[in-house]
Amino acid sequence: DLFAQIQRLEELFFVPGQKLKEITAHFKDELVKGLSKEGGSIPMNPTWCMGFPTGNETGTYLALDMGGTNLRVCEILLPEEKGEFDIIQSKYRMPEELKSGTADELWAYVADCLQQFIEYHHEGEDLDHLPLGFTFSYPATQEYIDHGILQTWTKGFDISGVEGKDIVPPFQAALAERGLPIKLSALINDTTGTLIASAYTDPEMKIGCIFGTGCNAAYMEDCGSIPKLEHMNLDPSLLMAINCEWGAFDNERVILPRTQYDIIIDKESPRPGQQIFEKMVAGLYLGEIFRLVLLDLHENPDVCIFENIDVSKLKKPYTLDSSFLSAIEEDPFENLTEVEELFQKTLSIDTTKPERELVRRLAELIGTRAARLSSCGVAAICLKKGYKSCHVGADGSVFNKYPHFKARGAQALREILDWPKEVRKDPVDIRAAEDGSGVGAALIAALTLKRVQEGQ
Ligand code: BG6
Ligand code: GLC
Repeated sequence: DLFAQIQRLEELFFVPGQKLKEITAHFKDELVKGLSKEGGSIPMNPTWCMGFPTGNETGTYLALDMGGTNLRVCEILLPEEKGEFDIIQSKYRMPEELKSGTADELWAYVADCLQQFIEYHHEGEDLDHLPLGFTFSYPATQEYIDHGILQTWTKGFDISGVEGKDIVPPFQAALAERGLPIKLSALINDTTGTLIASAYTDPEMKIGCIFGTGCNAAYMEDCGSIPKLEHMNLDPSLLMAINCEWGAFDNERVILPRTQYDIIIDKESPRPGQQIFEKMVAGLYLGEIFRLVLLDLHENPDVCIFENIDVSKLKKPYTLDSSFLSAIEEDPFENLTEVEELFQKTLSIDTTKPERELVRRLAELIGTRAARLSSCGVAAICLKKGYKSCHVGADGSVFNKYPHFKARGAQALREILDWPKEVRKDPVDIRAAEDGSGVGAALIAALTLKRVQEGQ
């Protein structure tokens, strides 16, 4: 019966505190490995973003945010005195076809959006070269801050001819073709932007996280603790932001409690074997995990769900996104009437009350597992750095919109880091970040220009 199924799913998806601790311990070792000369599965990418902002950064900057869901262009005025930022911005949709198209189409589209922005906001003006911070939220190898070789596409992107190459020259060529007065100053990751923007207003901020379509974090490392940069002879006490790219955690598949559904997601993805952690926790995949479980239950002759109902819509991969699960979890009605409507409208499936109770529990289990596993990454950085207490700046649709994500993540941190029950304020506090890809990108562009001017 369905009750027995719920119990089975609970066993499958619930990750107990003890297991979270084991995962965290391994995660910490993997962070260290990623910084070593030999490397590991977590890339731990040096970003060349050196240290925190001072508050003296000023000027006008463009920021381009290519995260995966939207494309956003902002113009940011950093104030003379630390205070409110002036921001204007436009959002453009990232067409689905672009994600599996060609590199030329991608850069043409991005440059067209920048052109539209400039024409709209600076019509007829004679602009000098505006410095641009480009938030390119994919793993990139950087030897300087204004270059980046794409290591691999993530988040379901599969554009040919970009991996393994520096993305900056074709991007700049597309700008030049349009005669745009823009000069790329810094290529950054959304996590680095989040870290820097949050630290600008809060000196206790030590980690920047994205819990969105993808999942990742950045933190500041002492150059002396980055053995893979030893050959650069950097001052060991200098700070450099490290973009962990922790979505790749456990690519060697030794510790995460993967279910048959996680295995299918990986197999069917454009990059099997990669981003194993991300595929269990990030927004892009939550609805898909849910869909696969429901289909499996429907097809199992011992379980009767959606009996004699046409489930063809449920058979379409990636048809449900994480906002579908959010809506299920948010249904306030005893009879789960909103769930009933959602299933009718989105999937043309009529549900019984026991079925709705099962799907609600399933959404809770998938959302809870994502939050609890994500916290292992945060705890691992804290253990690696010896942070007993700090603030963590977080952004992304899952963090901002998924119900209970924060509370579930905080609960997991309490279990992993063994805070005594009487502690009233969580020592490691994950809170909503400043706009990392706007303000963060502008601050990093400003910091970079200052370093260049000072000849460092
Ligand atoms: C946005 C940031 O707020 O969050 C982006 O501007 C970031 O840079 C994004 O990539 C992540 O969230 P999502 O849910 O859009 O992947
Ligand atoms: C993916 C990307 C990473 C990004 C994260 C959040 O993990 O590889 O660069 O930070 O998504 O957007």
